[in-house]
Amino acid sequence: MKAILVAGGAGYIGAQTCKQLAAAGFLPVTIDNLSTGYRQAVKWGPLVEADIRDRNAIASTVAQYDIRAAMHFAACSLVGESVQNPVKYYDNNIGAAVSFASGLIESGVKSLIFSSTAAVYGIPKTDLITEDHPTIPINPYGATKLAFEQALHWIARSSDLTFTVLRYFNASGADLDGEIGESHDPETHLIPLLSKAAIGSGAPLSIFGSDYPTPDGTPIRDYIHVVDLAAAHIAALQRMLSGGSSSIFNVGTGVGASVAEVIRTAESILAKEMPRRIGPRREGDPAVLVADPSRILHSLDWAPRFSDLHTIILTAMWWQKNRFY
Ligand code: UFG
Repeated sequence: MKAILVAGGAGYIGAQTCKQLAAAGFLPVTIDNLSTGYRQAVKWGPLVEADIRDRNAIASTVAQYDIRAAMHFAACSLVGESVQNPVKYYDNNIGAAVSFASGLIESGVKSLIFSSTAAVYGIPKTDLITEDHPTIPINPYGATKLAFEQALHWIARSSDLTFTVLRYFNASGADLDGEIGESHDPETHLIPLLSKAAIGSGAPLSIFGSDYPTPDGTPIRDYIHVVDLAAAHIAALQRMLSGGSSSIFNVGTGVGASVAEVIRTAESILAKEMPRRIGPRREGDPAVLVADPSRILHSLDWAPRFSDLHTIILTAMWWQKNRFY
């Protein structure tokens, strides 16, 4: 069985990808220090409890399981925290990531899929963002993700490493079987906060600004279901294992939804009004962030299947109601 090393396989998107790797006939081997991930989320293959900077752990794991490729999900991912504590982001999202890439190369791993973000684009200059849009991040989170993308470019030129960068738009929703979901502490994302509020286990929702230049005044995002996002990793992996070259792909749907639309969809599922208040804008939030997904649709065997708002919110609410970690 082909084994894949999954850094951050105990996290929200990493665990979902492990589930799909196993379904596709791979053995997902998670390396995770459990700083934000959950042991209970590692169900589809072994867990190596180690830091991604641990070269000995990487070398012995690669040798033990005959690892064919790696995926890197093990990063810090909160925009607000990155502004408060940039050193943490530079240290982990660049320092540890470069060390991980170097450990992979030393161990003979030749393919790496990296979780990047739409935050690399900063304030978009176009309605739909292609991969060639200028990258001018406006927070340390986006800056550090972009810096590692650039590091990968140079590292690949000087080695036989091939990489795929996946720039995620708004990852959301939960596993369709209820096995994995979003459990961040603190939680800052709209859909889990909304889901908690909906089931009465969280504060009423605060809308961060209603004076944006959008049709209803609230910001628009491209929400991509975590099952679709994980599927993009499997498609990218298959392409790399068949000799595909290094590439960058947006992972989004090309369709945006406003905060007000998200709330309306939740209300239609619940068949009741949700308490909410309009608060001030959150620093660093662009008005509109929507992918042009043409490149991934044409290049990979992939298309979104579960990324309609109804499925995203229903699965997210179901997870928040029944979550076991
Ligand atoms: N929002 C609210 N109230 C909340 C939380 C969020 O109104 O309590 C709004 C935000 O202002 C934003 C939208 O809901 O307009 C979505 O916010 P999220 O926090 O869920 O997601 P972001 O769009 O801020 O973040 C996502 C990814 C980041 C990435 C960023 C790029 O999660 O990793 O897009 O801007 F960096």
